[in-house]
Amino acid sequence: MTRNIKGIILAGGSGTRLYPLTMAVSKQLLPVYDKPMVYFPLTTLMLAGVRDIAIITTPQDQSQFVRLLGDGSQWGVSLTYLVQEKPEGLAQAYLIAKNFLNDADSLMALGDNIFFGSGLTDKLRTATQSDKGATVFGYQVTQPDRYGVLGFNDAGEVNQIIEKPNKPPSNLAVTGLYLLDKTAPAKAASIKKSARGELEITSVLNLYLEEGQLSVEKLGRGYAWFDTGTHASLLEAGNFVKTLSERQSVQIGCPEEIAFDQGWISADDLKASGKRLGKSSYGEYLRALADASGAP
Ligand code: G1P
Repeated sequence: MTRNIKGIILAGGSGTRLYPLTMAVSKQLLPVYDKPMVYFPLTTLMLAGVRDIAIITTPQDQSQFVRLLGDGSQWGVSLTYLVQEKPEGLAQAYLIAKNFLNDADSLMALGDNIFFGSGLTDKLRTATQSDKGATVFGYQVTQPDRYGVLGFNDAGEVNQIIEKPNKPPSNLAVTGLYLLDKTAPAKAASIKKSARGELEITSVLNLYLEEGQLSVEKLGRGYAWFDTGTHASLLEAGNFVKTLSERQSVQIGCPEEIAFDQGWISADDLKASGKRLGKSSYGEYLRALADASGAP
């Protein structure tokens, strides 16, 4: 049976770690080289085949997201805007999106997480076929204490997930991409705030783990994962996108291209988008794609 999976992009938060950059602009609208950051989680969801997506923002930033992304029809997707009045943790997203989800499963991407890898689409598509209640994506990092971290038993099975541990049980971080079944909002409603005062996604994941419903997909060598939570990691992500896109003359995180590849928009739509984007290299890229596809 095909699962009904809706998307969530969590783009709220005050971005205090990036002050003064984020004093007047939402963190998820900051540039990652040539695109606004939110294009990256958006295209991650699109690559997974998810077309009905809620974007959660602060009340004051919502209008700018709407101005940038509109209703999504230009990319053959549907975008719904929801507000997080006060940032109280990642799990709060499931409470805010409960009505939007309406008992659907969900793939949530954190608005500041960037994924890249040639096998990503297949991996995401395979995960969406899984019958486990939750799938998370693990990534080996040098500083696990900055993240939610997976712990394993002797048989190599996950037996714990700890948020920002002082003594990390492994160096496998849980990335900001969560495929959860329809019980996620009820689970999020049942957890208590952590010592740092947040409804932790890790607490929700631990409930799935207790039920034997948590599956971990490792993003191994050949994948890049960035969270752009610090000035240095924001710059690193930008440099990565620049290097790769210039070297190979490809766009990374380009919703028009992905929509076109999936058959969600036509070559004419692509061409029209290319025209709207004017003289930018991005516009040129879209026009060239449309031309290469034989559009008149
Ligand atoms: C959050 C999660 C953490 C996860 C990380 C991924 O951390 O709480 O489990 O590993 O995102 O980016 P935060 O960015 O809120 O510190």
